[in-house]
Amino acid sequence: MALLSRTTRKLTLAVLLAAVIPLAAAIIIARSLVSNVSAQLYNPRVGEELERSLDLYKELAASLKSTMRYQAEAIAAQEGLRAAAMLNHRPSLEQELAEIFPTHTNLVQLAVVDGDGEIVVEKKRFTAVNVNTELALEVRKPLSNKADGPQLLAVFVTPKARFDERDQMEETVRTYRQIEASRSQVERAHLYAFTVLLVITMLAAVTLGTLLSRGVTRRIGLLAHVAQVVGSGDLSVRVPIQGKDEITELAKAFNRMLREVQRSRARIEFLQRMGTWQEMARRLAHEIKNPLTPIQLAVEEIHARYQGDDASFRKLLETTHGVVTEEVASLRRLVTEFSAFARLPRADLSNHDICVFLREQQKHMVLFTDDESGILRTDGDVLERAVDVSWEIATRPIAVYMDQQMMHRVLVNLVRNAAQAVSVKQSARGRVRVRLREVDKDWITIEVDDDGPGIPIEMRETIFDPYVTTKADGTGLGLSIVKKIVMEHGGSIEATESEWHGARLVVTLPRAGSSASFAARAQVGQSLQMTGMTMGER
Ligand SMILES: Nc1ncnc2c1ncn2[C@@H]1O[C@H](COP(=O)(O)OP(=O)(O)O)[C@@H](O)[C@H]1O
Ligand SMILES: [Mg+2]
Repeated sequence: MALLSRTTRKLTLAVLLAAVIPLAAAIIIARSLVSNVSAQLYNPRVGEELERSLDLYKELAASLKSTMRYQAEAIAAQEGLRAAAMLNHRPSLEQELAEIFPTHTNLVQLAVVDGDGEIVVEKKRFTAVNVNTELALEVRKPLSNKADGPQLLAVFVTPKARFDERDQMEETVRTYRQIEASRSQVERAHLYAFTVLLVITMLAAVTLGTLLSRGVTRRIGLLAHVAQVVGSGDLSVRVPIQGKDEITELAKAFNRMLREVQRSRARIEFLQRMGTWQEMARRLAHEIKNPLTPIQLAVEEIHARYQGDDASFRKLLETTHGVVTEEVASLRRLVTEFSAFARLPRADLSNHDICVFLREQQKHMVLFTDDESGILRTDGDVLERAVDVSWEIATRPIAVYMDQQMMHRVLVNLVRNAAQAVSVKQSARGRVRVRLREVDKDWITIEVDDDGPGIPIEMRETIFDPYVTTKADGTGLGLSIVKKIVMEHGGSIEATESEWHGARLVVTLPRAGSSASFAARAQVGQSLQMTGMTMGER
């Protein structure tokens, strides 16, 4: 398994390149700059020139010294001085020295010493040697051929500056050579520093890249995982929404799409099932209806034909006639409901203002609640007594593609169920409320609330299936008809709890112009053709 995901690797590499390329370029430039400067500074010719001038200074110093030695030799070679020295005649020696001394301006002392090293005569310069500016050089030369004979002692001076300069020069050259020797070392230190910097930058880039991309890759991975689950058929999964960027938008859009797919799949499945149920209801109605008349006629025939005196038999005939007539009548009602269910027409959608429609419905129902019987009716349907139906409808127009007759059936069924629920529970007037709500720019809801016993949670899904009823004389068809109609409008229906702890039935419908409304108008025909639901159409 890879340590980092492919996206993380790519992102990290990108960050790395972005950081390392400029840095590497900077290092190369800096390095060539450093070596250029130092190459110029440490040009070998500079060193050579320095050495040469040092040599010149050395030569100069050496020649100064040898000149003084020559001078001493020349003085020691003078015959007069040598003769006077041999004789050791002081007055002539003094005279000789007095003559020679002025001829050499760089002399500070001139003396003759005997074999024991004692000074016999000497001549000195008026001023003593200035150690700050002058350098003294002492030279001894023999004045005879004998080893222990008299010697000439000459002390010369030369300007000290010459020699100081030489020393300075020597120092400079030494320093220069030292620096030159350490030059490669300096360059290596530079390179080392840059390498460390490069490594630090690379590590920082890798860390940053990994951190940056980890969140993104993890969330993309999550999306991919959810997509896989969806691919295996589970439409109920959702991508967790986190963050606030394009991936969040993608996740939201993905969830929206899932909801839409799930809804339309549920719709198609329900309509298919409805088709089957309607077909069953049609057959059943047909099978039951046909024998009803012969049964009724036969019983009536027997009842009319009997002329005998058997009172108990006559009584049995009467009872049988009554029971059969009653049961046949109730079967007839059932058959009527079944065939109405089977022939349920397809919704024919056209654009209407749902507020106008609801206000009309309100008028009908009010009309019949307020008559003296107190019975709530709608267009001939007897509802329950003692119910207050309140309405909350917006005043501004809300356009919805709908089939007004079918939507009327929806409302009547929902209000009738609500009215039946409250009357079961209370002797006082029950409360029913029909409320229109704008959910968002695409959806509206119609809620029908009551203060009856409510619908148990475990029944909130199944009540929409046909033949599910808790009422003794119920058929369980009402809500399945409602659901079918709502679905054909591109909407949905849901049972929850009202604020009075009774039932709340929420019908959600798409507004005209929304994609769901458009899809509903396109889909109704399609799904009907697909499921072969062609019977009972208008
Ligand atoms: N407003 C409501 N309050 C409580 N229960 C309800 C309500 N509406 C529907 N039901 C439950 O849903 C079942 C199915 O209703 P419906 O399909 O209209 O059939 P029917 O009215 O013939 O029973 C009812 O039998 C009842 O148990
Ligand atoms: Mg009902």
